[in-house]
Amino acid sequence: MSADRFGAAYYRRFYEQDPVHTATTIGHLAQAVMSLSTWWGIRVGSALDVGAGPGFWRDWFREHHPTVHYVSTDVSEYACKQYAHDQRDISQWAPGKPFDLVVCHGVLQYLNNEQASAAILNLATATGHLLYLEVPTKHDHEHVIDAGSTDLDCHWRSGDWYRRRLAPHFLQVGAGLWAQRSGAVPFYELESC
Ligand SMILES: C[S@@+](CC[C@H](N)C(=O)[O-])C[C@H]1O[C@@H](n2cnc3c(N)ncnc32)[C@H](O)[C@@H]1O
Repeated sequence: MSADRFGAAYYRRFYEQDPVHTATTIGHLAQAVMSLSTWWGIRVGSALDVGAGPGFWRDWFREHHPTVHYVSTDVSEYACKQYAHDQRDISQWAPGKPFDLVVCHGVLQYLNNEQASAAILNLATATGHLLYLEVPTKHDHEHVIDAGSTDLDCHWRSGDWYRRRLAPHFLQVGAGLWAQRSGAVPFYELESC
């Protein structure tokens, strides 16, 4: 998928006209993720945002956790200039050292199978403790998403397709959270899937 696809018109359409989410709704989610991290004893000193788009997560962290070392990235040249991110393609790049928290919100559905598989490997390398991952699946396309406000021009894969690739690296905790298997958190049996 071409990076040109993510130009000004894309962000206007999905973040201004009929937004799929807003800075306020992302704030609630980010707060919940940080609260659960604290509950599990994970100190989030660094965070990586992959495909950060308008940068709502980054802005929330700047305001509420200014001491967290926060790196936001996106493949789109437009988004990187407009919203101040580092230009990276997650299917081709992983950081040199892991971040405590990685956010990948609404990104992998834009990648083809080969790119998405490579991106998951890079997310595994990038994640020290927790990954927040949201990616709509084929099932979501058919039964869950609001077709009026969601971009439907994506790759629609099954949940199992993603689970097979995530499971060697992550324990699925729920609510979009995946714990790095090499991380130190001892989850109770019924706390995770
Ligand atoms: C639906 S937006 C999500 C933006 C943000 N994460 C959010 O939830 O508000 C998808 C974003 O993924 C970015 N993206 C698409 N393919 C990417 C890739 N291979 N690597 C990094 N970012 C990518 C796009 O440029 C776009 O900004």
